[in-house]
Amino acid sequence: MFQSLKPLPPDAIIGIMGLFREDDDPYKVDLSVGVYQDEGGNTPVLECVRQAEQQVLSEQKTKSYVGIAGNASFNESVEKILFGADHPARKTGRISSVQTPGGSGGLSVAGHMIIRAQRDAQVWLSDPSWPNHLPLLRLAGLRLQQYPYYDYKNHGIDFDAMIDTFNKLGVGDLVLLHGCCHNPCGADLSRDQWDRLADLFESRGIVPFLDFAYQGLAEGLEEDAYGVRLMAERLDEVIVVTSCSKNFGLYRERVGMTSVISKDVKQAKVAQSNLGNVARGIYSMPPDHGAAIVSRVLNDNELSAIWIEELAQMRERLNDLRHLIVDKLNERGAPRDFSFIASERGMFSFLGISQEQAIRLREEFHVYTLESGRINVAGINQSNVDYVADAIVAIL
Ligand code: LMR
Repeated sequence: MFQSLKPLPPDAIIGIMGLFREDDDPYKVDLSVGVYQDEGGNTPVLECVRQAEQQVLSEQKTKSYVGIAGNASFNESVEKILFGADHPARKTGRISSVQTPGGSGGLSVAGHMIIRAQRDAQVWLSDPSWPNHLPLLRLAGLRLQQYPYYDYKNHGIDFDAMIDTFNKLGVGDLVLLHGCCHNPCGADLSRDQWDRLADLFESRGIVPFLDFAYQGLAEGLEEDAYGVRLMAERLDEVIVVTSCSKNFGLYRERVGMTSVISKDVKQAKVAQSNLGNVARGIYSMPPDHGAAIVSRVLNDNELSAIWIEELAQMRERLNDLRHLIVDKLNERGAPRDFSFIASERGMFSFLGISQEQAIRLREEFHVYTLESGRINVAGINQSNVDYVADAIVAIL
C-alpha cells in the first residue's frame, strides 16, 4: 500500500534546521528556524520556567488525565493575557478555549472547527504566510486562498491591495491575520489598519482567524494584543490561536490554545463542546507539563514578574539586533537599503535575496536562512554580526 507514496522534500524550515545541525563549520550561523537565541547562541530555559517547573514536579501527585480541554487554570490565565482580564467578550462569557499541543495543534483544532461549522468556508492566507499554514490547514480539509500582504519592493504592507481583495469577500470567508510579528516578513499592521479591517470585516461578515504566536515580542504584551482584542470586541465571531513556544520559550513542550469568540454565551457553550469534541477526535487530550508550568508562572506574582522581565529582555534584544545588522550592512556600503529591517518586528524579516543567493549564503558562508530569504534576527549576536554582514554583502 505505502508503495504508492512519493518521497517528499524536507520541510522548508525544519529541514534547514537539520542541515545546520550536520554542519561542523566553526563559523556557522543559524538564522533559520524561529527560536529565540541569546547572545551566546543558546535557546535558554527561562528562569521563571525553571522555577515553576521545579514547583510543578515537586508538588505533582498524579499523571492521570487532565481532561479534553486541558488545564482549566492555564486556559483562564492565558485568556487573561490574550484578551485582558476585563475584556467585554470575557465578561459576557463569549469566549470558549481549549489548551492545544502548541500553536500548530491549535491551528489544526481551529481548522476542524471551521470545516464543521461550514464545510465550504474559505480561509484567506496572507501572501506570504508562515510556510506551514497552508499544508497544515489543507490537511484539516480547508479551502485556502491568498490575499496580497507584503510588498517585496517597498518592504511594507500593500494595504490597498489587501482591502481590494477583502472588499470582494463576505459571509463564509475567514481571513487569517498574524496578531503581531508577522511570520515570515516582520511587517505588522498599524492600529489604524486594524481599525479599518475591523470595520470592513464587520460590514462584510468576514470572520477573523488570528494567529497570535508571538505576543510580547514586538512592542509589549498589551501593545501586541491590540488587534486581537479589538476584533474580539467588535465582531460576533473570531478565532484566536496562541502559542507559548516563543514567549515562554517552551517550544518542545507544545503549549498553545485555541479560543473561539461567539455571538453570545449560549453559542459559546456550543462552541466549547465542539472544541472539546474536535480535540478528542484528533489527539484526545493535550500534554500537561508545559501548560502546568505556564499556569504556575501566571498565577504566582513573583514568577510573573520574572517572566515579564525576561520577555522584555528578549523583545529588546530582538529590536536592538535589527538596528545592529542594518548599521553593519550600511558600514559595508551594502548596495541596498536595509533600513526596513529595523522597523519590522519579531524574529523575522526578508533579506530580499533569491533562492540561489540564500543557498550561496548557506553553502559558501555557512549562514543558514530559509530559502525564501527569511532570517531570524535572534541568531545574530555581537560575535557573528560582522561575519553575517560580510557574507550578505558578498552574495548581493
Ligand atoms: C518558524 O517559523 O520558524 C517557527 O514557527 C518554527 C516552525 O515550526 O516552523
